[in-house]
Amino acid sequence: MSLLDKFAVARQLKSGLSDIGVDPTAVVFDAINSATEGVVEGRKTILAGTNNYLGLTFDPACVEAGIEAMRSHGTGTTGSRMANGSYSTHGLLEAELADFYQCSNAMVFSTGYTANLGVLTALLSKGDAVLLDADAHASLYDGCRMSGADIFRFKHNDVRSLERRLDRLKDRTDRCLIVVEGVYSVLGDRAPLVEIVRLKERFGARLLVDEAHSLGVYGENGCGVAEEQGVLDKVDFIVGTFSKSLGAMGGFCTSPHDVLGLFRYVSRPFMFTASPSPAVVATTREALHRLRTRPGLKKSLWANANQLYSGLHKLGFELGPDISPVIAVRCQDRESALSDWNKLLEAGVYVNMMLPPATPGGVSFLRCSVSAAHTPEQISTIIGEFAKL
Ligand SMILES: Cc1ncc(COP(=O)(O)O)c(C=O)c1O
Repeated sequence: MSLLDKFAVARQLKSGLSDIGVDPTAVVFDAINSATEGVVEGRKTILAGTNNYLGLTFDPACVEAGIEAMRSHGTGTTGSRMANGSYSTHGLLEAELADFYQCSNAMVFSTGYTANLGVLTALLSKGDAVLLDADAHASLYDGCRMSGADIFRFKHNDVRSLERRLDRLKDRTDRCLIVVEGVYSVLGDRAPLVEIVRLKERFGARLLVDEAHSLGVYGENGCGVAEEQGVLDKVDFIVGTFSKSLGAMGGFCTSPHDVLGLFRYVSRPFMFTASPSPAVVATTREALHRLRTRPGLKKSLWANANQLYSGLHKLGFELGPDISPVIAVRCQDRESALSDWNKLLEAGVYVNMMLPPATPGGVSFLRCSVSAAHTPEQISTIIGEFAKL
């Protein structure tokens, strides 16, 4: 097969996606009117697949902070922090994150994806072992693979399966990292962190938790699932993204271990890419401030999550096990998923189309993500359109 021939598979996949209607991977928002409403193909559309959990993308203070930063610091940093220096606001954001997580160290990356690559490749190398939840996000898989460590998957959220893997590692457990998510991005289910922490302590392993979908959503202060389950101070590395609850772009890692400060000198996904732009850093800082000072956002988010979950549940749809702002509706097969996704779009409701291989168990899902900015009427409309499927 020549270099270009192998794209035949991708070509076939692409045409299969548009057979039934709009290709979900190529949908275009002609306008974004607010955190929860846009225009698709001339139609006003409720956005229910954005990960905009706190609805902060149009928050006036966040928007102003971004504009002001662009005026005062320019449009971009034009290079990496190692080669071109840091802006003072990079350090301020890191200090604010460390304070938020009550940790001594924090590090900012250009995206959530590179945060995972950067942390995992700095931390792990050949000869180390990583125990990875089977449903972990692609960025966690990619980071583990890039590191050269031996990867052992354990059954999703199954502590017995994790324990068996740890047992088998015998005297290698002190060179072992357990990698899980706080909330899993497709089904919205949570990791049993209390039991996982117990195991990591028993075996002398380390633990990394990706709180991408739980920042601002779980825990009294909004730190995530580790805070909610009372084990925040027991997690060795928390990673996360600014692209969801904080409505910006970028990623971070916090840790009680001072080696995090040395990752800057060894982490290639940190060293060899441009640092986050001034506007991105400014909107992220303002959004983090909002998250910390406006608990009402989390309350509205949960009221909306409860309304949508119970509405879809009453209709008889098969949903993920936990009520959460991530609500995935199980579809019979790929074709019905694509067809239903198109019907919802035609009715003015945008959700995410999740198809294998990016899904647990090879199942197709219509994935909704709820925002604090949705109105109860918008949630009722979404439920009403699902009812017609
Ligand atoms: C669990 C998890 N980690 C990391 C990422 C990557 O974050 P970003 O899109 O901000 O790069 C995602 C993105 O969806 C995610 O779901």
